[in-house]
Amino acid sequence: MNVYDSARMAEILAPLGYRPVEGPETADLIILNTCHIREKAAEKVYSDLGRLQPLKSPAAAPLIAVAGCVAQAEGEEILRRAPYVDMVFGPQTYHRLPEMVARVTRGAGAVLDTEFPAEPKFDHLPGPAPGAGTAMAEERPITAFLTVQEGCDKFCTFCVVPYTRGPEYSRPMAAIEAEARALVARGAVEITLLGQNVNAYHGLDDAGVPRGLAVLIRRLARIDGLARLRYTTSHPRDLDETLIACHGEEAKLMPFLHLPVQSGSDRILAAMNRGHRADDYRRLAERLRAARPDLALSSDFIVGFPGETDADFEATLDLVRGVGFASAFSFKYSARPGTPAAALEDQVPDAVTNDRLQRLQAALRDQQDAFNRRLVGTTVPVLFERRGRHHGQIVGRTPYLQAVHAHAPEPWIGTVRKVRILAIGPNSLAGSPAAETDATPFPARERISA
Ligand code: 5AD
Ligand code: SF4
Repeated sequence: MNVYDSARMAEILAPLGYRPVEGPETADLIILNTCHIREKAAEKVYSDLGRLQPLKSPAAAPLIAVAGCVAQAEGEEILRRAPYVDMVFGPQTYHRLPEMVARVTRGAGAVLDTEFPAEPKFDHLPGPAPGAGTAMAEERPITAFLTVQEGCDKFCTFCVVPYTRGPEYSRPMAAIEAEARALVARGAVEITLLGQNVNAYHGLDDAGVPRGLAVLIRRLARIDGLARLRYTTSHPRDLDETLIACHGEEAKLMPFLHLPVQSGSDRILAAMNRGHRADDYRRLAERLRAARPDLALSSDFIVGFPGETDADFEATLDLVRGVGFASAFSFKYSARPGTPAAALEDQVPDAVTNDRLQRLQAALRDQQDAFNRRLVGTTVPVLFERRGRHHGQIVGRTPYLQAVHAHAPEPWIGTVRKVRILAIGPNSLAGSPAAETDATPFPARERISA
């Protein structure tokens, strides 16, 4: 979502004459758009700021801003620790950037804007205009992000998101469709719908009735030229029947779902306030695969949550073995000030957490390798996105987000083509063009958990 927010910041600054540049040395304005989810992410902001400070000289003084969730959470502390910072603003106020820039350049002092304004920022942002700079100044974003929902009301006990991103808010469907159409008009072929809790989406339809994510997906799937839809990140509790059915019926919805489970222990899930048990997750995976047999899952895991015992950790490994994941992210628990879990006694010693993390990551890596290996020899649709490093090579992604490179015609960029997977490299798969009629379906499920 920070990538999406950065692109919108670039758009709102474009009328003021700002455009993206390659590095901080040539910038007039530097915005660090930050993440506060784990302690490491927050600490990185202060070390990055330290590196930027020397750029401020009497001869050239770029404006320095800290945006995003670290700004939201740390607020004044940033101005205290790094007094050369000009602007500190949270994820809900960046639509006010033009006023903030004007204030600072007038010499009115540093700006701190971390409130949760009553007006939704989306009403004050320009739509993605043809030619307007995206964050990375890409000319044609073949795959694009689109925020449909923000904030979270779930209050998992380890998580800062409900405090930094604020309460749940869903954008109205018409505004989302307009933005999706503008992205497609600019060349997007794939759109990933974003939200901290995206499947809690309940935006208003044109008659003013709140509707769920499945209705939104079906509406967007009607857009000509749009080939692929994804959504992230979901909560198991909000994965309802209509959304599961949508996976079975909507061909444009990719058969790959990031569905964080965090732990396989019922005791820990309860302490995390996740609101479901491990078996509920197993059943969800079953139902999803019944609706869409080639669906693969990815997940997030936290190890070393306060009070996690060896038995709890074994339960997590058991869930991993039973469900089977095509990819996953796993993290050491990081105590975040202000969250309920940070106050819990029984914090797990670092050495124990490190050991568990290694074991979990090894298990997840094995599953990912197995998943990739089993693709070899099958034919998969690949959305080509860009030229490769080698002459005549282009690079794209499978429905499961694996990178694939192939020697194929450059005009294939921006299209979905059948590719036969030949081999697995360290970071990507190698393939070759296959006949459009060639179909060796990939039965993800039996093959991973076998
Ligand atoms: N410590 C470790 N991991 C965390 N996550 C969120 N909060 C914490 C924390 N305090 C992880 C969760 C979440 C992902 C985005 O980050 O796994 O799904
Ligand atoms: Fe954080 Fe996700 Fe839990 Fe919300 S549902 S509190 S964003 S982990």
